[in-house]
Formats: sequence, C-alpha cells, structure tokens
Amino acid sequence: MTRSLTVLGIESSCDDTGAALVRYRPGMAAEILSNVVAGQTDLHAAFGGVVPEIAARAHAEKLDLVVEEALARAGLTLRQIDAIAVTAGPGLIGGVLSGVMLAKGLSAATGKPLVGVNHLAGHALTPRLTDGLDFPYLMLLVSGGHCQFLRVDGPEDFARLGGTIDDAPGEAFDKTAKLLGLPQPGGPAVEAEAAQGDPKRFPFPRPLLDRPGCDLSFSGLKTALMRARDALVAENGGLTRQDRADLCAGFQAAVADVLAEKSRRALALCPGISAFAVAGGVAANATLRARLTAIAGATPFLAPPLALCTDNAAMIAWAGIERLRLGHTDDLTLSARPRWPLDSAAAPLIGSGKRGAKA
Ligand code: KG4
Ligand code: ZN
Repeated sequence: MTRSLTVLGIESSCDDTGAALVRYRPGMAAEILSNVVAGQTDLHAAFGGVVPEIAARAHAEKLDLVVEEALARAGLTLRQIDAIAVTAGPGLIGGVLSGVMLAKGLSAATGKPLVGVNHLAGHALTPRLTDGLDFPYLMLLVSGGHCQFLRVDGPEDFARLGGTIDDAPGEAFDKTAKLLGLPQPGGPAVEAEAAQGDPKRFPFPRPLLDRPGCDLSFSGLKTALMRARDALVAENGGLTRQDRADLCAGFQAAVADVLAEKSRRALALCPGISAFAVAGGVAANATLRARLTAIAGATPFLAPPLALCTDNAAMIAWAGIERLRLGHTDDLTLSARPRWPLDSAAAPLIGSGKRGAKA
C-alpha cells in the first residue's frame, strides 16, 4: 500500500497561474489543502485572445508568489511536502517553461522528487480527485481550447475516441458572444441570453452528425450564426433584443445536440465504465449538463465543481500523485512540450482549437 503523499502542483500552461497542495492518504478521500489561481483575463482583454508573450511574462512574475501563497494557506513549508508536480505540456511554451523551470529549481533545492504532468491528464483525472472514480470511465473535455472524448483506463492510459476537427466549443461560444456584442468570456453571456430565446427560430446546422464516429466540428456553426446575424442586420438595420436571444438559444441548442449525440456514441463504445464525467469551462453550461445527464441514462454522470473543471493546479498535484503512486518521477532533464497528445496511438487531430494549445 502506498504511503501518504502531500504534493505541490504548479500550473502555467495558458492564462492561469496556479499552485496547489493536495494530500493523498490510502483508503481516504483526497484532500485539497490549498488551491490558488491567479488569472490573467484583464491582461489579455484588449487583444481578443491570449497573447503568449504577455502570458509568459505574467507567469514568470506570479509563479513564486502563488506557490508561497498555496504553502501558506495549507500551513506547510516546502520541507513538509513529498514531491513537486508541474504541467510540462501541452500549452503555450513560454508559460509551460516558466513553471517547469520553477519546479526544477524547487526540486533541486529541496531534494524532493519532480513529476511532470500532462495538463490534459490533469483535467481527465479530476473526477478521481473529487469523487474517487474507478477506472475505466468516459471523459468529455470541453473547454475554450479543447474538445475530446477520452476513455480513461489508468493514470497514464487514455484512449481518444474522437475530438473536434476544428474549433473548440468554448471558442465558438466566445466567438458568438463577440459577433452579438456580448461580453467575454462568451459562454456565460450566451447562456444567459439563450434562456430568454426561442431555440427553434434559427435552424442552425448540426455539424458531422451525418458522419459515423465521435469527431466534432464547430466552425460551420459559427459561420451560420454570422450569416443569420448579417441577414437580420441587412433586413432590419440591426438586432432586437429578441433576435439576439433567439440567435443564442439556436446556437446553444445546436452545440448541445451535437455534444449529446456524440456522447451517446462514445458511451456505446465504452461498456462497463464506472461513470461519464465532464471537465472544462463549457461543462458549466446548464443546458448542456441536463442533456448529458439524460444521455448518460443508467451510467452515473459527474461534473466536478467548476473551480476544478477549469484550469487549476490542484488537478496537476493530483495527477502527480497518481504518477507517484505508480513509482513514476522525472529528473532535471524534464522538458516543456507545446504539443503532447494523451493518446499517442490515436491519429493526430486536424485541429484542436484554434487557440492552439489552450486546454
Ligand atoms: O476550461 P476553461 O476555463 O479554459 C480553457 O479553455 O482552458 O474554459 C473556458 C471556456 C470559455 O470559452 C468560456 O466561454 C466557456 O469555457 N464557458 C462556457 C460557460 N462558462 C464558461 N461555455 C458555455 N456555457 C457556459 N456557462
Ligand atoms: Zn485546461
């Protein structure tokens, strides 16, 4: 039986600088002792997307502060931890490098083991941190940068069943908000508008439903929304409040339909799983959650708390614990990887979100 493990996790792969302390004790629920996230939304707001150089500089400035804060909130010193886990990819390389360099420095200075973690594994293993799920389970990762179905068979054993061939759904929500003059991040704004709208007024396409398998596509949907908006503007000189709400409702219904049908197919490919779990910011969407819960049927449906669904370091600490329990660690040659698919056997995705490595 593995001993207790208290691990520092470090996350800096996109626009959130995170540090967290997580404790594992055999036979007990995992404990998040602290989970500090410093976001960078304000720094990137004027640019309409994450600017890699700005992100990297902000990570370099904030990382040691968030680590200090995470230790302080947990009431621990570096001496009292068992290992340092860090996101080693995939992600924006400047940010990943900042985290990996800090983790290497802390490991060298303290003699504590270093564990490199795949950021996507962090998301995919979160249901084990929050609910102690047993393998195998099905995971739908839906964020601003990623969309894929994974069968999670073990801490380092993932089978990708399908994914987006172009945009990620969060990206499509953000773009929709932008096209309709709603604030960013677009997801919550579009969801709020959609609640007042008629999802049937605009029959938007359901991309790739006519093709077998679990791959998804969202870029055509975005284009259809833009056309519908432009037609209304050309006809009436602008959009009414109801137009905007109906466009949002139609868009959200199309995303939910596509994700629900592809989830049904993914579930059919995974007999004997313990649960169907979601992670990523889009999993916050109530309409989507309701649809996925219905699709799951007798399979338990699980959506971790939002703070653990979006980018955070607790999931990195936990994924580090999972690797440590297998006896896997890294040394100071650990490299930062901008691309790092979870399932090396699956064919590369044509697109994995135009924001590139954002997961
Ligand atoms: O996982 P996340 O915080 O960041 C990464 O992409 O890494 O996800 C952010 C994305 C944004 O695109 C945001 O618009 C979307 O999640 N989002 C939502 C909702 N809340 C956040 N999309 C749909 N409905 C929501 N309620
Ligand atoms: Zn992520």
